[in-house]
Amino acid sequence: MKKIIFVLVATWMSFNSMADVTYQVIPLPQSIKLDPSGKNAQLIKGQVVSYPADNAEMKRNAQFAQEFLGLKPQVAAKKVKTPVNLTLGLQSENPDAYQITIDKKGITIQGASESGVFYGIQTLRKSVALEEGDTISLPFATITGEPRFQYRGTMLDCARHFFPVTFIKEFIDILALHGVNKFHWHLTDDQGWRFEVKALPELAKKGSYRPYTIIGSNVGLGQGDPIWDDTPEEGYYTQAELREIVQYAQERYITIIPEIDLPGHMVAALSVYPNLGCTGGPYFVRPYWGVDPDVLCAGNPETLKFIHTVLGELCEVFPSKYIHVGGDESPRDRWKKCEKCQNKKKELQLDNEAQLQTYILKDVEKFLSQHGRELIGWDEILEGGLSEGATVMSWRGYKGGITAARLHHRVIMTPTDNCYIDYYQLKNQRAQPHAIGGYLPLSKVYAMEPIPSDLTEEEGKFILGAQCNLWTEYVLSPKHAEYMLLPRLDAMCEVQWLQPDQKNFEAFTTRLADMEKLYRKLGYSYCTAYE
Ligand code: ACM
Ligand code: ZN
Repeated sequence: MKKIIFVLVATWMSFNSMADVTYQVIPLPQSIKLDPSGKNAQLIKGQVVSYPADNAEMKRNAQFAQEFLGLKPQVAAKKVKTPVNLTLGLQSENPDAYQITIDKKGITIQGASESGVFYGIQTLRKSVALEEGDTISLPFATITGEPRFQYRGTMLDCARHFFPVTFIKEFIDILALHGVNKFHWHLTDDQGWRFEVKALPELAKKGSYRPYTIIGSNVGLGQGDPIWDDTPEEGYYTQAELREIVQYAQERYITIIPEIDLPGHMVAALSVYPNLGCTGGPYFVRPYWGVDPDVLCAGNPETLKFIHTVLGELCEVFPSKYIHVGGDESPRDRWKKCEKCQNKKKELQLDNEAQLQTYILKDVEKFLSQHGRELIGWDEILEGGLSEGATVMSWRGYKGGITAARLHHRVIMTPTDNCYIDYYQLKNQRAQPHAIGGYLPLSKVYAMEPIPSDLTEEEGKFILGAQCNLWTEYVLSPKHAEYMLLPRLDAMCEVQWLQPDQKNFEAFTTRLADMEKLYRKLGYSYCTAYE
């Protein structure tokens, strides 16, 4: 009898004990409905998680459930109930939507597609991450989540400083934890070329090396001797490594959008192929920052050949529909003085040098289209007239994005004022590592609204989403990159996931406290203060 009472009491306790789990994670689910019964289900380490047969993505999702929740994957057999179930078939027009149901039947994560299931697993994982022990009580509840935007990006610059493959994978893990689905990868710039091109073996070998770098800001350039660090910066990604990273990201529902920045930001390439510049060089991989006057020559037919070779291989490695071709900060002074460029301008009957850039852009768009791809460029691509299908990434404020949306071009919003996470995040600059300048506190990232109110509802539909950008002139290590990223990525992911009326900065910071505990557990570096 005593034994029976003990079992009854233990059972009652396990169903009614106060669980800490609230499901209030970042990004916040759209709805969390706790069951009025106050009962709990148990998530027990080693429990079975079932997934539909013959679906490799769901099998992978079950493996994530194993990794994050300590469960044991098993193909769902009809009529056999398992404690945790991963299923498809949620009715939603949003493929990333998920629903988590916790009731007497157990724990079910249902997605509108496989990616939705993945996001559901992430939400459950974050809900229980700080709970101790092998058995976790989960209050009966129905939780639903879906992102507001289809494009939820983060950019990392690996040209100014090189980051190893191990960190790139960790970076992808961090994006996945936040429901980000686009990794915009800035692979080339004046200071380094990081993409292996097999037909041009010297390009990455030589273009990825600079023997030294300026210490601090560009102070002193042209006024005596700047201070150099005497530390070579080098490294590039082989195509084999890139393919592995692409797959790693794909498994986590992240598309890598590679960027080859052209026709400016090309000095690393010019240092290897000086004939591609207007003056013929010599050029050197740039050891300091800023905008360089030397760009690809628009009048040299070799330039387009070079671009085709590079983008051809890029398309082989990266399956992304979108390919980013830069277009920012490309001065036209060299073009104005170059005979080849001026001949090309006459031949094409162009009015100005901005249209020379559009001439390159249109050729690149045609090339990409032949490869089944579409072009993204920074908002400068508007200046000489947009090519037909271009998507505009608006960084100099919202203006370029507004213009493009009114022209019915797709837009990604990443204005410096809300999205440049290479800026300082606290007012007291001395409390932080040296940064490029600026001031972008957490609250300002959180306040971002990607669809400007001056757009009509119809025009607003051309805003695909938002992203934050991590330029790395002054970001010297993976730990430093994490510090710049976290927690500002938390704010950005709520911009990407929540409707404007669901956002609340105070409530967000309460949820952030748990997220920071998770960062400590996972060993991520982050900025412990915020403003
Ligand atoms: C940029 O920040 N130059 C796009
Ligand atoms: Zn030229």
